[in-house]
Amino acid sequence: MTAVEPTDRPGPGTGTDAEGDAADGSGNRHYGFPAPLFRALGRIPVPPPADPRTWRSPLRGRWLTSVLGLVLLVGLPVVILTGLLSYIAYGPQFGQAIPGDVGYLRLPPFDWPTSPSWLYRLTQGLHVGLGLVLVPVILTKLWSVVPKLFAWPPVRSLAQLLERISLLALVGGILFELVTGIMNIQYDYSFGFDFYTAHYWGAWVFIAGFLAHVAIKLPTMVRALRTGAPGRWLHDTTAETVPEPPDDEPGHSLVAVSPSPPTMSRRTLIGAVAGGSALVGVLTIGTTVDALRPLAFLSPRGRSYGTGPSDFQVNRTAFAAGVGPGIGDGYALALRGGPAGEVRLDRAALGALPQHTATLPIACVEGWSVTRTWTGVRLRDLAALAGVPAPATAFVQSLERAGPFARVTLQGNQVLDPDALLALRVGEDAGAMADLSLDHGFPARVIVPALPGVHNTKWVGAIDFRSA
Ligand code: HEM
Repeated sequence: MTAVEPTDRPGPGTGTDAEGDAADGSGNRHYGFPAPLFRALGRIPVPPPADPRTWRSPLRGRWLTSVLGLVLLVGLPVVILTGLLSYIAYGPQFGQAIPGDVGYLRLPPFDWPTSPSWLYRLTQGLHVGLGLVLVPVILTKLWSVVPKLFAWPPVRSLAQLLERISLLALVGGILFELVTGIMNIQYDYSFGFDFYTAHYWGAWVFIAGFLAHVAIKLPTMVRALRTGAPGRWLHDTTAETVPEPPDDEPGHSLVAVSPSPPTMSRRTLIGAVAGGSALVGVLTIGTTVDALRPLAFLSPRGRSYGTGPSDFQVNRTAFAAGVGPGIGDGYALALRGGPAGEVRLDRAALGALPQHTATLPIACVEGWSVTRTWTGVRLRDLAALAGVPAPATAFVQSLERAGPFARVTLQGNQVLDPDALLALRVGEDAGAMADLSLDHGFPARVIVPALPGVHNTKWVGAIDFRSA
């Protein structure tokens, strides 16, 4: 690192006084700082990244940044919205979304619908899948603005200080969300803190930064896209590629002050980013589209699980849940809440009740989902049997006592949906059914249309139907 006098620096010490900052007679701009402080700042050794001459790509400029920004402007709100919807799907009104108490950030709760049955599959598939697909765009956007992140002096006015704080939330927030989200879908929790709590609060930090950034940069983006002559920038070959014209921030522009010769055209760069996103999409889509499952190389739960009716994803195995093969011995489901007290049904009695078959997806918060055909007793028939024909909620308890989702409250609409089942059998289609395997919840499990996967309780021991 070298100490660079303000006048030596191509950044703040040169250029016209476009921002109207005061000067000290030496030709230097002060950026609102008292002159002695500005001179002292100028003697601080400047790390090479803060020297604009370090950044030499002739591709950088407002037009390129704005094209990438436009893609993120369309894509990231979908990722944000579907993430928040997932929080609501977990039922914060029952205190079973994590984190529990979010104070002023409490979202208006509503009953998560059961129709269409693929709703959560869609929203969570989009959240994880689109989030992954946008990674190449986000990284390229950061590359395109990296000289600005190191701009010197780092703060030039109060407004710019506030903007830089919002950038900390934006850049820190998105990187934190990407890293924790990707580690979560790989079942890697080596970060040591609770994923759900951190990812939720991290999301709000990012949302605040994102809203501020869009509000500040939208006019610049529109101007850059309008004046950027897309025909020109996109059709230029490598040899024809020249830096964008200087913009209105001399000394702080993305346009390189000493550009190196082009090694690729803008068209190639944008094509490479689009290709990277498409590749991530192809490797991910099999986690949500059954027919493309062999392609799901990026998902630890995405590919093959052997053969037969139980060949589909298992998130929490019976072993991990401390459930042994002897669970069926002496099994009796307890139904509670009715005026006549507890009703107990062993598995043979459950099998003797009217059976209903439904083809429903099961969709995990980690993005994977799979469609299966399920047969069992309708939850609403069990509610009627318990003596609570129109329950407001149902409290389902698993025989797995210690797990985080061993107890789940279902909304009234989730109990009364005609396809909501206490499933006893499962298969790829109605012609190839078998009893649930132990890992899939034998003797009986809940399956409800559009419910987040983890709330489809396995190894169900008791259901408490509540009318209020
Ligand atoms: C995760 C999403 C994003 C990240 C991490 C990000 C990051 C950044 C950073 C760090 C800067 C430099 C700020 C400065 O010091 O001037 C910047 C500039 C910019 N961003 Fe974003 N941005 C994101 C999304 C967007 C979106 C959605 C838009 C669309 C409105 C956008 C449009 C722009 C524009 C027009 C500039 C100004 C370039 C210039 O003044 O030369 N960005 N972005």
